[in-house]
Amino acid sequence: MAESAAPSLIADILRLKKERNAVILAHNYQTRDIQEIADFVGDSLGLAYKAKETDADVIVFCGVHFMAETAKIVNPGKVVVLPDANAGCSLEQACPGPQLEAFLKANAAKNYYVIAYINCSGHVKALADCICTSGNAVKIVQAAPPDRPILFVPDQNLGSWVMEQTGRKMDLWKGSCYVHVEFTRESIEKIKVDHPDAKVVAHPECTYAVRMLADEVCSTEKMVGYCKSSPASAFIIVTESGMLHRLEREVPGKTFIAGPTGHCACADCRYMKLNTLQKLHDCLHHLQPRVELPEDIRQRAEKPILRMLELSR
Ligand code: 13P
Ligand code: SF4
Repeated sequence: MAESAAPSLIADILRLKKERNAVILAHNYQTRDIQEIADFVGDSLGLAYKAKETDADVIVFCGVHFMAETAKIVNPGKVVVLPDANAGCSLEQACPGPQLEAFLKANAAKNYYVIAYINCSGHVKALADCICTSGNAVKIVQAAPPDRPILFVPDQNLGSWVMEQTGRKMDLWKGSCYVHVEFTRESIEKIKVDHPDAKVVAHPECTYAVRMLADEVCSTEKMVGYCKSSPASAFIIVTESGMLHRLEREVPGKTFIAGPTGHCACADCRYMKLNTLQKLHDCLHHLQPRVELPEDIRQRAEKPILRMLELSR
């Protein structure tokens, strides 16, 4: 249990969780104290499955808004809260629903098959044929109809990595994650000078130059499996800093070197880090802020999410 957090705050959260019949889901980028009190910690895909399967009445989603919204879309009857309503995502902002809708209308003749990375709004999901996460994007693209052009939104870096993996050409929306595009080849090469034997593990939201340097490119969940099974004893982790807590906890005895923070101080996602243990307590207490969305959008957004969950089993 979190040593630094006040024991009474932790006790209160556990009491409220029981009273509300709540489940606490946390993304791998959350702070250590939140990860330690959560019922499940994982990547976007694992969290989407957990949210779908839970029999709790309340889902407390410690992550960013699009993740909590996904939980609500597949659980319309449950109360879904997130500790800080301002926990957004630069990828979600890069692709506003009305803009995608207008683009699809203007390009109706292309008959696009739209694959939306889960880091997007409910409105964008409602316009998609299938959702994907970084953990299943290759599989989802391979399963797309071969006779239709694919529009991949909103992350151009994940999209181009998937094209490299599958050989399937896609049209890419020009969005990016403000955290991952700040990592540079030069900064990683500098770290490699001090740790020449360390394996470089990067998230596919990183740029091509960084992915080229990586020994492994994968989702946050797959990073845990890779570091466990690799014979290497040290890893340079090129993603958001919260990932280090998860790795240190689940892969003891190995060394994890933070991404190039010394050279570009941007390894914290400012949205993910808006959540705190106190806000987690308060949202359980007040059951606010709640995630809600219009029922017609929810129904349309649910279909491509369920298609993804089915396809990636
Ligand atoms: P994962 O699904 O790999 O955890 O990625 C989520 C995310 O927001 C990466 O920036
Ligand atoms: Fe969005 Fe990037 Fe933060 Fe992930 S790390 S939630 S993609 S802004």
